[in-house]
Amino acid sequence: MKGFRKTNPILMLLVLSCLVGCKDKSQKDHSLKEVLNESFSEEELYRPNFHFTPKANWMNDPNGMFYYNGYYHLYFQYHPESNVWGPMHWGHAISSDMITWTEQPIAIYPDELGTIFSGSAVVDINNSSGFGKVSKSTPIVAIYTNSKKLEGNDNWKQTQSIAYSNDEGKTFTKYENNPVIDNDKIKDFRDPKVTWDDDRSKWVMSLAVGDKISFYESKNLKEWDFLSDFGQEIGGHGGVWECPDLFKLPVLGTDEYKWVLFVSINPGGPNGGSATQYFIGDFDGTNFTLDKEFEKSISKEHNYWLDFGRDNYAGVTWSNAIKKDGSKLMIGWMSNWDYALKVPTEKWRSAMTVARKIQLQKDENGYRLLSNPVDELNAYRDKKFKKENLVIDGETKIISSSNIDLTSLEINFKTSELNKAGFTFSLTNKSGDTLAFGYNLNSKRFFVDRRKAGKTEFSEKFAEVVSYAPRTSLNKNIKGKVILDKTSIELFFDDGETVMTEIFFPNSPFNNLTIKSKDQEFILDSIEINKLKY
Ligand code: FRU
Repeated sequence: MKGFRKTNPILMLLVLSCLVGCKDKSQKDHSLKEVLNESFSEEELYRPNFHFTPKANWMNDPNGMFYYNGYYHLYFQYHPESNVWGPMHWGHAISSDMITWTEQPIAIYPDELGTIFSGSAVVDINNSSGFGKVSKSTPIVAIYTNSKKLEGNDNWKQTQSIAYSNDEGKTFTKYENNPVIDNDKIKDFRDPKVTWDDDRSKWVMSLAVGDKISFYESKNLKEWDFLSDFGQEIGGHGGVWECPDLFKLPVLGTDEYKWVLFVSINPGGPNGGSATQYFIGDFDGTNFTLDKEFEKSISKEHNYWLDFGRDNYAGVTWSNAIKKDGSKLMIGWMSNWDYALKVPTEKWRSAMTVARKIQLQKDENGYRLLSNPVDELNAYRDKKFKKENLVIDGETKIISSSNIDLTSLEINFKTSELNKAGFTFSLTNKSGDTLAFGYNLNSKRFFVDRRKAGKTEFSEKFAEVVSYAPRTSLNKNIKGKVILDKTSIELFFDDGETVMTEIFFPNSPFNNLTIKSKDQEFILDSIEINKLKY
C-alpha cells in the first residue's frame, strides 16, 4: 500500500531509543506519538477516532434511527461483501450517547422483493400495528424501500415494505403482505421516513418520488393512503430528491411550532454533488405548505442547506428521542456520491458525521435551523488549552501536537472584531499538506479548502475547488466550533447557523494549527481547545 509505512524493526528501534534517550517529557511523548502514527497502516490512520465506521466494507445512508430503553439505534445502508456499493442490507450499531457505537449483526437482509434501501423505524408504543406480543414488548417497526432490478433494462422497481422487531431492534421479521406501497410506474420511489403526527394521532410518511416528496398517512403502519405532493417547483433541483424527513420543531424562545422538511438531493448541492436542503412551513394533516416569509426568501436564492460542506448527506432524525427542549437529533453520511466509491480506504468505506442537535431559530433573518454537535459530546472533553486576546498579525501559531493531539479535538473560538478582517486557520503536517478553513471578509463567506490537504488524486471531483458557505448573520460577532477527527472537519459557525463538514486524507497526521488574518491585524478574543477522549 502506498502512503504510510508499515511497522518495521528500524522504526521500533527508533521508538525505543527515544523512550530511553529523550530528556524533555513532552518532547518524548511527541516524538513517540509521531513515530507510532507513521507506523500505523494506512487503513487505521484514516479510520476516524470517534466517528462511526463499519468494521469492514461499504456503508452509506443512516437508516431507521430510533431511541428505546437507553439505546440509540443506528441502522445504515450496508454492503457486507465489498468496499463499494452493491446489494443493500441494513447494518446496525447501538450507542447510549450517539458518540461511542458498538456494531451489531446485520438487521435486515435482501429478499425476493429486492435489496433493502433507505428507510426509517418507529417505536410503536401503542402497538398500532398489532405486531407486538401484547403486554410483553413494544414492537419496533422498520419501513424501508425494496429495490429490485428489472430484467432486460436498467430500471428498478421500488416499493415500500415493513418489518417488525420484538427484541428491541436486534432482529426483524418481514411483514407477510409486503409491499405495503406498490409501484409499477415510477423509477425513483424511495426512502420512506415515518413520523407520528401527534396533533391528528396518525402516522405520516414522507417519500422521495423523483423530483418531489409525496406524503402518505396510516393508522396501523400497514395500510397507507396518499395525501399530497410537495416541491416540484421549489428549492434545489439539480438532481434527484432523496431521503426526506418531516417533523415538528418548536421555535426557540416562543410557544410557536413549525414543521421542517429535510430533502437530500444528488447532485445539486451548494458546493457540488450530494447535500441536504431544508424547508420550513406547516403541515395540516394533508399538505405541507411553506411559511410565507420563508417562501419569499427561497424564491430569491435557495440557501437553506443543512450543511454547506461536501460531506453530510442523507441525514435524518432519530424517532422517539424526546429532548426536554424539543430539539431533534440527527446524523448524516459523511461522504458524497461524487467520490464516495473511490476514497482511499480499503477495508471499510465511509463514516457518519458526529450526531447533531437540530433547533429552529427565528430572528431578523427569518427562520434558520441551528445544528450543533449533540450535548453528549461534551462528556468526552479531556485536556484543555485556552488562549485569550490573541493579536493576530500575520501567521500566528496556536498549537501543535506537542501540546495536544490534533486528531481528536473540539475548538471553540470567538472574536468581536470580525468586521475588520477575515481569517484563515491552517492545519499542517510534516508531509507539507495543509487544510485551511475560515472566513472571507470581502465575499462574506466561510470556506474550507482541502485542495492541498493530502491525497486528492483518487477523484477529480474531490478537491477541484474551495467550498464556500454564505454567512447569514452579518451583524453578530463570529463564533466558531470545530470538531476535528483524523480525516474529517465539522465547522459550526454562529451557533450552528452555518455548518460545513468535509473529509480529507492527509499523508501524515496534522500536527500544527495556525491562524492568519488577511490585510489587517485583529484580536481573537478567545480560543479554547479540548482534546476529545476516544
Ligand atoms: C441516498 C440513496 C437513497 C437510497 C440509498 C441506496 O444516498 O441513494 O436514495 O435508498 O442511497 O443505497
